[in-house]
Amino acid sequence: MTDILNEIAKKHLYIGGKWQEAASYEPLHSPYHGGLIAEVAEASADETRQAIAAAAEATTTMRDMPAHQRAAILEQLARLLEERKEEAARLIALEGSKPLKAARAEVARTIETYKFSAEEAKRIHGETVPLDAAATGEGKFGYTIKEPVGVVGAITPFNFPMNLVAHKVGPALAAGNTIVLKPAEQTPLSSFLLAELLEQAGLPAGALNVVTGDGKTVGDTIVTDDRVKALSFTGSPAVGISIRSRSGLKKVTLELGSNSGLIIDKDTDVAAMIDRAVSGAFGNQGQVCISVQRIYVHEHIFDTFVEQFVTATAKLKLGDPLEEDTDVAAMISEKEQKRALEWIAEAIEQGAEVVCGNEVQDGCLKPTVLLNVSPEARVACREVFAPVVMINRVRDMEEAVQAVNHSDYGLQAGIYTTQLDTAFLAIRQLEVGGVIVNDIPSFRVDQMPYGGVKQSGIGREGVKYAMEDMLETKFVVFNQPR
Ligand code: SIN
Repeated sequence: MTDILNEIAKKHLYIGGKWQEAASYEPLHSPYHGGLIAEVAEASADETRQAIAAAAEATTTMRDMPAHQRAAILEQLARLLEERKEEAARLIALEGSKPLKAARAEVARTIETYKFSAEEAKRIHGETVPLDAAATGEGKFGYTIKEPVGVVGAITPFNFPMNLVAHKVGPALAAGNTIVLKPAEQTPLSSFLLAELLEQAGLPAGALNVVTGDGKTVGDTIVTDDRVKALSFTGSPAVGISIRSRSGLKKVTLELGSNSGLIIDKDTDVAAMIDRAVSGAFGNQGQVCISVQRIYVHEHIFDTFVEQFVTATAKLKLGDPLEEDTDVAAMISEKEQKRALEWIAEAIEQGAEVVCGNEVQDGCLKPTVLLNVSPEARVACREVFAPVVMINRVRDMEEAVQAVNHSDYGLQAGIYTTQLDTAFLAIRQLEVGGVIVNDIPSFRVDQMPYGGVKQSGIGREGVKYAMEDMLETKFVVFNQPR
């Protein structure tokens, strides 16, 4: 264990391979017990530009590094993280109030994401183009080469502080880029651990830079600096849209959340899937972009489903994220908890019925289940990002699909059915980036393409897919006069 779990650590900026004192620091408090856990550097615009300069300087080293060396660094990172996985999980639980069980699962996924990145580093290739398909192309041989873009700016959220960082850092390094990383203000500690591990793994100085601080100063500087060639952001639609409008000609990948829908057909074996649905709704306090937020159940099994869902929800244990058996802990801030309670109150005013939750216990919002929610209530039509789920009754699967599509978002949706034609109806008609048949929308493994349509974003993550926006295509024409 490092000192950070035992004493208040002062965390500096990581620029050009060195820990650099910042002009200013901010206290970091636990979202659960409110105690001070660290003093974290608050980078200025100038300090952020120093990080960008360091990343720009390291681009030649990274561009010239052979694929097998980039892969070896990422493999070594995965090994080092495996050795310190318990410490990493405890850091995440401490800074983000993520229950330890879920934090351990996140670290295991992070290790896999870096392993997938190591593999993808060795698979970057272009293609030949038959130039003689045009008469004027006769006698010429054409092929594409994939080259790193240079500096990648990564702005990451609090809800998966290690694995969503890995989804940006892994592909960027695999592709031979350098990175300026701005982790979420509430969850920077695991990014400092990452910097330490990557240095040990042999990453050249300047290839990863960690600049902590607020979105306005650090984020804006990264977004608007011309030396940054690609941006990868996970967060809210409002910030994502603003980033895109101010980023000039950079390549931009945006993962912007959702109000994911789950459809339950009349033939579903409710008992077999109910724990999965409950964990999808309340895992990490519902603070997951593909959390189960809206459930549409066929009227034939609506009452059974609700009864079993509420029974399974009642078994969840609330409390300290660092305790072994905690399922649901505090939300990321009191402000967010207050907002969630306001949205619940609004839904009730609009006719929703509360079957459980809607109260705070030991600083944690109890898992809340609402029935018959108006589609216009914010708990239905906006991303609630809280332990709140709505369950509505539908007459048939067409109505369910329409209800899911009645949304500004479109990240992933799930449908449970035994009918092939119903599954294909959903696959065809659901307006989302991913359809999950016979599982919840929260399903994700880290090599699959992941991203949304509508206000859920642009581009895809999932290592290989993320790398598409972190590489440039150069075309080569060889003239072979006869
Ligand atoms: C997210 O909240 O976008 C990430 C979900 C996941 O990786 O499971």
